[in-house]
Amino acid sequence: MDILKKALIKVKPTLFDEKRVSKIVDNFLSRLNSGLKGGAAVVGGSIAKGTWLKGSHDIDIFVLFIDGDNISERLERVLKKTFGKIERVHGSRDYFSVRNKGFDFEVIPVIKVCSYKDARNVTDVSPLHVQWVNCHLSEKMKDDVRLLKQFCKSCGAYGAETFIKGFSGYVLEVLVANYGSFEKLIRSAVRWKRGDVVGNAGVELDRNKLSPLVVIDPVQPERNANAALSLEKFERFKKACKGFLKKRSIEFFIEKGVLLKDLKKHDLVFVAKPLKGKRDIVGTKLLKAFEEVRDNLESKEFGVESCGWWWNREGEAYFWFDVKRKKLSKVVKHYGPPVGKKENLEEFKKRHKGREIHKENGRVFVNLKRRFVDVYDFVDYLIKEEGVVGRVRSIKRKTYK
Ligand code: CTP
Ligand code: MG
Repeated sequence: MDILKKALIKVKPTLFDEKRVSKIVDNFLSRLNSGLKGGAAVVGGSIAKGTWLKGSHDIDIFVLFIDGDNISERLERVLKKTFGKIERVHGSRDYFSVRNKGFDFEVIPVIKVCSYKDARNVTDVSPLHVQWVNCHLSEKMKDDVRLLKQFCKSCGAYGAETFIKGFSGYVLEVLVANYGSFEKLIRSAVRWKRGDVVGNAGVELDRNKLSPLVVIDPVQPERNANAALSLEKFERFKKACKGFLKKRSIEFFIEKGVLLKDLKKHDLVFVAKPLKGKRDIVGTKLLKAFEEVRDNLESKEFGVESCGWWWNREGEAYFWFDVKRKKLSKVVKHYGPPVGKKENLEEFKKRHKGREIHKENGRVFVNLKRRFVDVYDFVDYLIKEEGVVGRVRSIKRKTYK
């Protein structure tokens, strides 16, 4: 069987899945709508666009208000009354997370607009994306979006969240519409160059919002919908496209976790449990904790040869590092002023009273004892520091025998 057909079976919800989800959505909407005054709840995101992946448990709900005062508060009251336990998520406009029948509903209050020009907040434009996708993508193209989402997940480039910096669902939809199909997109992507622009910008783009591949937002022609994409994820995606064209395999549609046998090869491996809360927020904190370890290894002279991290957005995260040096010298030369600078020299001597002053290339130095000589001692200390432990629920260094 053709690989794409095989992959589609994996990612496309069956008629049964569709019916089940639509029943759950309808039930949620009618409960919510019966309590709402001056607003209407509708389904949004990939469910409304018909581009959701089988097994997905996220449902985006948009509550459209005609007038715009205190819409988060107004929505909160109704949600609490209708569903009881809800979580308020702070953002440029607060929205809500509601767990219902095994699904995570993200309920977003928006002002109903006909053009992005009337939007007061970026989320106001989201229903226009849904309209655009439903007008411009055929059923076949929507299936191609599903393939593309899974392809990006497999190479680790799906999601515009700060801790991923990959392609958002909407960007993939716009790309498929532009190129016509999954196949054509992949074939074109291998020739993408940094700075390429997909689509026609209505006006000059904001220079600060450029990214390795600019994708003009069709409903908002001055916006780069792909502004979140990092160079690393751009290259990673291109590499996967090249690989796929060389050898078409189902492997390109399988999300790979981390394998114990691969982790074991690295000098340092950490297992971190994320904090509780929204994926986006706790994911960003995980990334920051990872960067803290990396930057400290660099600044303390152990050096980082290569490193990486992995999180499947649930459960534990893994950080790994290969360092340039596992042991450092016991002492480190701490340089002072040039020998000629009398005043500064006195100051230096005073500060290092009792230590022997040496000279080298016209400058003075003292030998200071290093606090950490061994990389394992250092990281074990580091992961207890606020910059790391404050950003995760727990973190441990793994040792493999
Ligand atoms: N959105 C956007 N840009 C982003 C994130 C979100 O424009 N960086 C808007 C889009 O209109 C999108 C909606 O918010 O349709 C919902 O976001 P999300 O759930 O992340 O995307 P989906 O399209 O629903 O894709 P998925 O299947 O991953 O849920
Ligand atoms: Mg969604």
